[in-house]
Amino acid sequence: MALALIGIGLADEKDISVKGLEAVKKAHTVYLEHYTSILQVPVSKLEAFYGRKIILADRDMVEKRADETILKDASQHDTAFLIVGDVFSATTHVDLYQRALGKGIDVKVVHNASILTAVGITGLELYKFGKTTSIPFHHKDVQSPVDIIMKNMKADMHTLVLLDLDLKDSRFLTINQACLYLIEKGLPANTRAVGCAALGSEKQQIHAGTLAEVKDGLFTSFPQCLIIPAKKLHFMEEEMLKRYIVC
Ligand SMILES: C[S@@+](CC[C@H](N)C(=O)[O-])C[C@H]1O[C@@H](n2cnc3c(N)ncnc32)[C@H](O)[C@@H]1O
Repeated sequence: MALALIGIGLADEKDISVKGLEAVKKAHTVYLEHYTSILQVPVSKLEAFYGRKIILADRDMVEKRADETILKDASQHDTAFLIVGDVFSATTHVDLYQRALGKGIDVKVVHNASILTAVGITGLELYKFGKTTSIPFHHKDVQSPVDIIMKNMKADMHTLVLLDLDLKDSRFLTINQACLYLIEKGLPANTRAVGCAALGSEKQQIHAGTLAEVKDGLFTSFPQCLIIPAKKLHFMEEEMLKRYIVC
């Protein structure tokens, strides 16, 4: 009996690792965390490829009802808990890990790619990212993302800005809305920005420019995020960003 926390990558059913797939096939029950991120394919594709029925786990199930669902199953038989991206890139899964260990459940972790590292495709050095921030749907009175960007800028660091999503209603905060919000909150419209959509998939889109330009970029895929680069860039970073400039 064990709980396997398995990162399933960023794009589709085939991004799972061999180790991850073996653990899924061995599991009696398979859950998919379904509130912090989403793949480019429907759950039915995962079920067909993994050969397992998947139970969707929303925030309520994971954060409030894990004892009577996921952890109860894991204490009785092998259970897999799938996470889009990598396992520990959202704090909610650290909590699940701790709670499982606290109940004496054997926990295995299978890592995968995450949005936190996939942004390396922009050419911006991962070592130079400061604190990550996120913009919620209801952001009218929210100031912290701007404060974090300013702090990172002062320290010569890039900022990854995650954008809210609501999988129950298939809603995503867009790069356009995020740029507008940052400009309204006082970031100059000529601040450099990089918009990223569906990274790691065939629908990937990356546009670099100013906040005003990226705001008008034609991003059609989801999920999306935004990067505000540090003011000073290494020449390799500059070269890479040129590839993504919106014409
Ligand atoms: C909590 S994070 C995802 C954590 C996930 N476990 C991981 O490792 O990637 C969710 C946010 O990351 C961003 N995101 C996730 N996947 C993305 C992708 N493929 N392309 C662009 N942004 C993405 C979106 O802003 C989304 O709201």
